[in-house]
Formats: sequence, structure tokens, C-alpha cells
Amino acid sequence: MSGIKIAIGCDHGGFRLKEEIKKMLQEQNRDFNDYGTFSEDSVDYPDIALEVAKAVRDGSFDRGILICGTGIGIGIAANKLVGIRAALCHDTFSARASREHNNANILTMGERVIGAGLAGDIVKVWLETDFVGGRHARRIQKISDIEQADGGISSQKGLNPGESCR
Ligand code: RB5
Repeated sequence: MSGIKIAIGCDHGGFRLKEEIKKMLQEQNRDFNDYGTFSEDSVDYPDIALEVAKAVRDGSFDRGILICGTGIGIGIAANKLVGIRAALCHDTFSARASREHNNANILTMGERVIGAGLAGDIVKVWLETDFVGGRHARRIQKISDIEQADGGISSQKGLNPGESCR
């Protein structure tokens, strides 16, 4: 069993690709939890994005994989949580860079955009690539600073919207 704990989720537009990715994760003996959805019945992607993003943000899981029709909506929703860096990747170069440079903790993909073969390669590269730190750590810190300046930390602490936590 690989050490990385993965939370995976999708909407109806990503259900079939999620099932393919799960098969691959099982074959690689990876540790994952499926947050749904569990059929092609229509659901709202922000609901699934929230569950997976919370699981990653809270530290219950190391990484998340989110799939919808395009990978766009589900990633936009996930990125609303403080500390989430969801990256839409439809090629292996971007998948590697999203880890090395951006320390992405959620990968998003679109079932209506790429096939299962490429998606599987993207997931493999993304899971196997580490953040390189250095100058990139400074930039990630600046992203966190933006979140704090915009009230992300204060809303987590239950302060009034816009109230400064510094
Ligand atoms: C659902 O039809 C579709 O809008 C959704 O899967 C996703 O592509 C949104 O960004």
C-alpha cells in the first residue's frame, strides 16, 4: 500500500472516468476513499468538490482527485477552500509542474476532454512527483498570504467577514 492517502470524487460528468481511475489506483495498491458520486444521475459538482477539498484541507487525506465533465467547475469550487491548490491537468507536463512548482494538493480532470489512458498517465505522474520547494515555496506562501488578506483565515476562525486576523 502506497503511503499517499487519496480522496477521489466526481460529478455525473466524471463518473465513468472516476471508475477507470479507481481501477488503476486499486491495481497500484494505492490507499483511497471514494466520495462519490456513485452513478451517472445528475448531481451538483460543488457538493462533491467540498467533501473532497475538506478531507484534504483537514489533513485526513494527502491528495485529492476530482473529475467532472471538463474539470473546470469542480476545480473552481475546490479552490474556494483555504489551503486548497487544485490544478486542472490534461497533459503530463502540467501534472508534473503542478506538483513541482505549485504543490497542487488536488488534481482535476474532465471526462469529456481526455480519455482514460491519458488520464491514468496524468494521475501516475501527479502522484509520483514531489514539490521542489525553493523559490516556489515563496510563491506558495504568497498565495496563502492572499487567502489571509482576503479573510480566509478570519472566516475559519469564526470572525466577522472582512475582520482582520492580524
Ligand atoms: C455537468 O453537465 C458539467 O457542467 C460539469 O460536469 C462540469 O463540466 C462543470 O464544470
